[in-house]
Amino acid sequence: MSLRELEPNWTWLFDGAVTRHVKRSYSPRESWRGRPFTRQDGAFQIKAIRELSMRLTIERKSAMGRPQARGYLEHGRFRAAYLLYFLPLQAAKFAALFEEHPGAIDAALADGERRGAMVVTDLGAGPGTASLALLLVLAQRAERGAALPPIVFHWFDEERRILHDGREIAAAFIERIPAFRGRVRIDLHVESFGEAARAVPEPWSLALLGHALNEGPNPPLGVWRRLLERCERGGGLLVVEPASKGNSQTLSEIRDQLFTGHVIPREPTAIWGPCLHAAGCPLAEGRDWCHTSVRATIPGEWFTFFSRGLGSERNWLKYSYLWLAAAGDPAPEPSPFVRRVLSDPIHQSGGAAELLLCEPNQVVRTSATSNRKIGRGDLYRLGATGVVPPAAAKKPAGTASSRSDGGSTSSRPPSPRSDGGSILRRRPHAASTSGPEVPKGAEPVTRSRRKPPGPRPPKRR
Ligand SMILES: C[S@@+](CC[C@H](N)C(=O)[O-])C[C@H]1O[C@@H](n2cnc3c(N)ncnc32)[C@H](O)[C@@H]1O
Repeated sequence: MSLRELEPNWTWLFDGAVTRHVKRSYSPRESWRGRPFTRQDGAFQIKAIRELSMRLTIERKSAMGRPQARGYLEHGRFRAAYLLYFLPLQAAKFAALFEEHPGAIDAALADGERRGAMVVTDLGAGPGTASLALLLVLAQRAERGAALPPIVFHWFDEERRILHDGREIAAAFIERIPAFRGRVRIDLHVESFGEAARAVPEPWSLALLGHALNEGPNPPLGVWRRLLERCERGGGLLVVEPASKGNSQTLSEIRDQLFTGHVIPREPTAIWGPCLHAAGCPLAEGRDWCHTSVRATIPGEWFTFFSRGLGSERNWLKYSYLWLAAAGDPAPEPSPFVRRVLSDPIHQSGGAAELLLCEPNQVVRTSATSNRKIGRGDLYRLGATGVVPPAAAKKPAGTASSRSDGGSTSSRPPSPRSDGGSILRRRPHAASTSGPEVPKGAEPVTRSRRKPPGPRPPKRR
């Protein structure tokens, strides 16, 4: 993933517009306002960034293992900290996902063209992080000659001031890009994202929900149903969450409940990613969890400055996500020969390295072949000796694929063995942090099945 491709707009936005806004709105001294953002400002802001980082990332020692933070954006110093450091960090995750699933963005744009405007809801928007990432990606498309429809954003958040911060920053960016000038509108809704379907009754071209689910109880199935009802056509609903175990497993549970509750059809095409099948998620409970790890360098002088101030320069983006397709614009059918890799190569004493792959309801292992580049999150094409169950071979073919897995059509046959498969491409992607542990000699590796599906008690982070 190269965010460098989004420069110079990226640095204009985050090094320029954001620091100017913070300087103007959040300087501790009146005399500092209106001056350039300097290292003195950086040194001042790093304290709040550190504190907020602790609040957002420290795992509570609860059974859920989800971070604890709520209400922090009521404080001006934390809003400034969020804008300076977390806004570009989280925007980079959205940009990575938009790059990974361009078909979903195409569907959202096509829906916008059909309707005369692309309607995008940003749920738990904060400063409109996901929307800003989308604008950066679309600005790049426009600069390459693509025509864009007008865009109407609806940002939902319970904290009014962070919405206004974001809109002010976005307005400057919209003015900068000719394709956006006079063609992008941002409506603010100071209310829970659970009210979004009522508040914006027209169809949505795309819905984005970033890093907000973990700040409250899981919405009941009815809320998901109503949100998804708005996504008739277009790019569907993308949910991005921190990569921790609690958050990732919550997303897996939601996915499974959407299937069992018949909110989405039980087809792989109901999901853009990361899943390639529609059976039970093998990592929805237990010791391991599915998340994404993308090698990336986030551009920007100030992001580097603050990363160093936090004690580490970031070379990886980590997150979990679930991208649900719109009913009228399903994701392409994944190839039946492709699997998501859930681990880096596991080196067994005296034997070939092995990989863990995602299968319906279970994780299975296969030999890693001689190609050393394969690792967690890659897509793996099964080789000729994969076993094809007869029932699967009968399944009708699906739609042609532009899916990021390079999939083609049809059924889901082979159960992987040591079959000399190959990597489709080295890609940012899913897995468990430590890699699921493999009982020696056992195959499949995990988890026959979990509790029967059904409503679960609300979880807090
Ligand atoms: C960590 S910030 C994420 C902001 C932005 N989406 C991003 O990815 O950077 C979480 C935001 O979600 C908001 N939030 C949490 N629960 C919410 C809810 N039920 N309805 C609306 N906003 C909510 C918070 O006020 C906060 O602004």
